[in-house]
Amino acid sequence: MDSCCVPGGSCCETGSFFSRWSRIYAKRFRSGGLEPVQKYLLQGIRLQPVHGTSVLDIGCGVGALHLTLLKEGADRSVGIDMSEGMLREAKRFAEDSGVAAHTHYVVGDFVQLSSRMTESDITILDKVVCCYADVENLVSAATAKTKHTFALSHPKENLLMKSLFKGHMVLAKILRWSFHLFWHNWDEVASLIRSHGFELMYENSTISWQVLVYKRK
Ligand SMILES: C[S@@+](CC[C@H](N)C(=O)[O-])C[C@H]1O[C@@H](n2cnc3c(N)ncnc32)[C@H](O)[C@@H]1O
Repeated sequence: MDSCCVPGGSCCETGSFFSRWSRIYAKRFRSGGLEPVQKYLLQGIRLQPVHGTSVLDIGCGVGALHLTLLKEGADRSVGIDMSEGMLREAKRFAEDSGVAAHTHYVVGDFVQLSSRMTESDITILDKVVCCYADVENLVSAATAKTKHTFALSHPKENLLMKSLFKGHMVLAKILRWSFHLFWHNWDEVASLIRSHGFELMYENSTISWQVLVYKRK
């Protein structure tokens, strides 16, 4: 597993936060399988052929999405995450599902490492853009590495999610928490993706999450 985190940097703070949660994420995936938002992302991704493709799963967590695509015939994947704990769990799932030889893991901030990453047919950002301050660079770097399908989920623009996120953001500032959530302008994020040459091919949502899957024009 490659590593990049600079001790004390925001990458490490976010990584440590999610490493503390990684066992819970793994337990939930083991017992409950894919979350509704992940099922929707896969529905959108499957509108294009999956067999033989390469997958880049940014902020991959315990690996639910790229591992599912590998089992469905994708050829290879790279999972990148700031959290070593999440990647340890992802590796374990990859071994248990017999696809470990087809996937590679990188620890660190995708924006900092993107110049070293190869292009993929399918790129996924599931519940990641709301954990990262510089959404513009994250989305721009991710689309630049995408040959055809770009799949993203972000918090849904409704009162519940906006209040939860804004409440967390205020508390994090006052209490000086090391981990921050971010509420970005989601319309601007969509425009940015379109400006990089993508068009929307699938849209769906749960109460909490908006799912958008694009293809390169
Ligand atoms: C809310 S979790 C979602 C994990 C997984 N995608 C899922 O849906 O189960 C967000 C993950 O994104 C990672 N992350 C956030 N920004 C990142 C970045 N710029 N590069 C790599 N990983 C990132 C965090 O470390 C965390 O594990």
